[in-house]
Amino acid sequence: MNALLPQTAPFANDDIEALSGIIARSNVEQRIWLTGFLAGLDAQQSGVAPAVAAPPRAREKLVILYATETGNAEGLALKARKMAAKLGFDAKALDMADVEPAALADAKNLIVIAATWGEGEPPERAASFYNSLMADDAPRLDGLRFAVMALGDTAYVNFCETGQTIDARLEELGATRTADRVDLDLDFAKSAAVWTEQTLEVLRPADTPATVVHVDFKGVGHAEDLESPFDAENPLVAEVSEIVNLNGTGSTSETWQIELATDVAGYSYQPGDAIGIAPENDPVLATEVLTVVGLDGDADLAGRLMREFDITTLTRPVIKRYAELTGRDDVAALAEPDAFLPYATDRQIIDLLAEHGEALTADQLTSLLRPLPTRLYSVASSLAAHPGETHLLVSAVKWHSHGRDRRGVASNWLAGRKAGDTVRLHVRPNRHFRLPEDPSRPIIMIGAGTGVAPYRAFIEERAELGAAGPSWLFFGARNYLTDFLYQLEWQDHLDSGALSEIDVAFSRDQPEKVYVQQRIAERADALRGWIGDGAHVYVCGDEKAMARDVETALIDVLAGERGDTEQGRERLDELRRAGRYQRDVY
Ligand SMILES: Cc1cc2nc3c(=O)[nH]c(=O)nc-3n(C[C@H](O)[C@H](O)[C@H](O)COP(=O)(O)OP(=O)(O)OC[C@H]3O[C@@H](n4cnc5c(N)ncnc54)[C@H](O)[C@@H]3O)c2cc1C
Ligand SMILES: Cc1cc2nc3c(=O)[nH]c(=O)nc-3n(C[C@H](O)[C@H](O)[C@H](O)COP(=O)(O)O)c2cc1C
Repeated sequence: MNALLPQTAPFANDDIEALSGIIARSNVEQRIWLTGFLAGLDAQQSGVAPAVAAPPRAREKLVILYATETGNAEGLALKARKMAAKLGFDAKALDMADVEPAALADAKNLIVIAATWGEGEPPERAASFYNSLMADDAPRLDGLRFAVMALGDTAYVNFCETGQTIDARLEELGATRTADRVDLDLDFAKSAAVWTEQTLEVLRPADTPATVVHVDFKGVGHAEDLESPFDAENPLVAEVSEIVNLNGTGSTSETWQIELATDVAGYSYQPGDAIGIAPENDPVLATEVLTVVGLDGDADLAGRLMREFDITTLTRPVIKRYAELTGRDDVAALAEPDAFLPYATDRQIIDLLAEHGEALTADQLTSLLRPLPTRLYSVASSLAAHPGETHLLVSAVKWHSHGRDRRGVASNWLAGRKAGDTVRLHVRPNRHFRLPEDPSRPIIMIGAGTGVAPYRAFIEERAELGAAGPSWLFFGARNYLTDFLYQLEWQDHLDSGALSEIDVAFSRDQPEKVYVQQRIAERADALRGWIGDGAHVYVCGDEKAMARDVETALIDVLAGERGDTEQGRERLDELRRAGRYQRDVY
């Protein structure tokens, strides 16, 4: 055989033959590796830098930090990480709940994806990071390159405020903005993908090879969600098997238990998860919208308005666009900062169109409207207790304003379903609202109205599994006789021992209003005992009407007999950090 190495190579003849044999059999990858290996070996032994083939350059580091409550920001962060990895980044997606701002100092590249909650507040689990970032002693971040994607809802005055504040603060702390912030509404999927691709392109070092990358940003959800065959874009079409109003005759509320047949391969949920529902608009309202803009009689368009577009939420972009389409200055004035809130409060799109009537074409009308967003509902059942079923507990939202009766879109659409009708749904896992892994741990569940939904799932699950841990429910509603949701089921669970204690507050059964927070205060000693025994505390339901007052009551409980509020707050924060104080409030 002809040796590959020349006979003049500085090796013995046998070695020339052996090396030639190995090199002849090797592929390109093996030869590149060998070159680097030998160069590195040489440099190591001689202390001299290698002359040939520098070892491969370390991959560019990137942190994708997300602040989320219901998983949208998390889902986008995971997709961005996937895209970044394909472009050669060493990318990590981190939950703001698990990070301190100091950790960013050596991140080099940072993408923040942050949702806004409450009235312009950060998501609850991100609050500690957010407050540290805003504090006077926040670390300098010189040398950090960053870009921010803000998630929000144009229905809120403080649209995308959390992302905006973080964006400004990172710059104040010395970091360099490499791409303009993007503020995204509920229909974020397409714009999020485009922004991420462009931002990664800017962050990517010039000498890394370009690759064509495609990551599908549709149907974003939690990490766990990515495995499910169903998401917002590909919902499961499930039949209603039963629907019943749980409130008694004469109640001021309408709370529907809706049972859905979901016995489908790949579909699963856990107590604590939420279900995303794709609703339809009220056909009467869709017709009215068409009539006021002079498009009545277009049945095809009426169908699209019912299923595809948000025809109720009066946002600033809607007013601005309507002003553009009609050329009306009086409409444009309503979108001004001082005028918007007084006008839009308690009004909807139909009011704008009726009060400032102009004819529109079908294309103009649809260009005014955003896609109809899905709504979330807590799962009210345990799969262990109801295999193949998903139960929801839905309060039909109704009110009257500016001379009109109004109805919440999704809740009333769901309330109007009959057995055999179908509903488009997907699971929104919530790993931050979960039963303790240890079934012997005590649980304390606090909720009012539909806030009780996940607790029905919790107790059913614990009963099925024969969990030994004690459980305590605090439930609030208006009237005992008509509004005690699941009263008979709680009674059965008390009898079987699956539920250990129940305290109820019916606000309107006596002259003075009584709420769950009062019951919490009355039972402070026992609650301290349970928490001392390792109990997990859950709060679910209305943020403004209940969760804030309950939090104050819990701080008072933990403040102890001396009433040290600061200590109470710290203890509640400790519980939160330990995953023993979990909230699902809306
Ligand atoms: C994680 C999560 C879990 C949830 N779980 C449940 C659940 O288990 N059960 C449940 O019933 N709901 C639940 N919700 C709330 C639910 O998603 C919807 O927001 C609710 O049903 C209203 O939706 P809708 O489409 O009927 O109303 P929409 O058409 O969205 O209208 C609601 C809007 O109308 C306005 N409005 C409502 N009432 C009034 C009033 N009195 N005066 C003036 N304006 C008003 C407000 O702007 C409000 O935002 C949950 C929400 C989240 C985020
Ligand atoms: C109770 C509630 C309050 C909200 N408050 C705001 C707000 O003040 N400003 C805003 O822009 N968006 C607000 N949003 C919209 C969320 O930011 C939006 O739904 C976002 O996509 C959620 O992302 P996440 O799933 O990552 O938490 C609110 C949503 C809910 C349900």
